[in-house]
Amino acid sequence: MRSGPALAPASPASRPLPVGRDFLDLADHDAHRLRAFLTDAARLKSGELSGPLLAGRTLAMIFRKSSTRTRVSAEAGMTQLGGHAIMISEQDSQIGRGESVADTAKVLSRYVDAILVRTFAHEEVLEFAREASVPVVNGLTDLLHPCQVMADLLTAAEEFGPVLEGLRVAWIGDGNNVANSWLNAAARLGFSLRLACPEGYDPDPAILDRARRDAGAQLLRDPAEAVAGAHVVTTDVWASMGQEDEVAAREAAFAGYCVDDALMARADRSGIFLHCLPAHRGEEVAASVIDGPRSRVFEEAENRLHVIKAVLLGLIGPSSPS
Ligand code: CP
Ligand code: NVA
Repeated sequence: MRSGPALAPASPASRPLPVGRDFLDLADHDAHRLRAFLTDAARLKSGELSGPLLAGRTLAMIFRKSSTRTRVSAEAGMTQLGGHAIMISEQDSQIGRGESVADTAKVLSRYVDAILVRTFAHEEVLEFAREASVPVVNGLTDLLHPCQVMADLLTAAEEFGPVLEGLRVAWIGDGNNVANSWLNAAARLGFSLRLACPEGYDPDPAILDRARRDAGAQLLRDPAEAVAGAHVVTTDVWASMGQEDEVAAREAAFAGYCVDDALMARADRSGIFLHCLPAHRGEEVAASVIDGPRSRVFEEAENRLHVIKAVLLGLIGPSSPS
């Protein structure tokens, strides 16, 4: 909860977002800040950084879509840091009855220290951030999933070292929210990223352009070409949340985009497999890959916890000593 003027004037929708206050988009942060979050996540994981660093602080979590990892890692993370999280689902709050984003953001800002939002339109998270006076965390939108890719980067760093510039990453499948966040990470951190997406399922064009310009990211059609020599091979479901009525069309479009043993054989010998989960074995990934020796999906899922703790700590800041 931030203190402010007793009668704060209503803010116009065009008010610019405060730089660096929120965690909405990896592209909003420079390499130094992203590395600092990753370093803190590693220190939290090792126990080097511990204690009730967010004692007395509260996180509100708004979910308009289902979640296991994002919700539980944020809630457990707040508990572990001595704070508290409140789950707010659409159906049992006034959000489901149409209360505006602006009013919700303003009210919650008077109770809590940060707000995590998972929703459909990315614009809604931006609106929360504009209207809130506390930090807002993007817990996934149709466009981006920044917390996920930070956990993926931590997993890659554990395997290949903290200097990520030499990393070669291959994304296979849908140019979706996770793919867009990989592109933003590449643009900021400068590692090599090759995506293989079927035509019609490309990533966001502006995000792709920036990653092409800043990191030489490549969009290909052939998964075998994208995977050649990769340290990290990663994919995601063919139909994301909200695309349930496209499942049949997507299954047809993504035939040939399954990460199987033959594809993994083309990666670097040390190459690992990542998937944000939940996964559909036999669709975007063969069971032998996701359950095999090169898979790091459960380390990756665990790293969601360490990353969200580091992000919340970085945004809210440690509690003052009593
Ligand atoms: N990877 C991920 O965001 O999982 P949830 O949908 O379970 O939060
Ligand atoms: N692309 C997936 C990620 C789920 C964590 C979705 O948006 O449903």
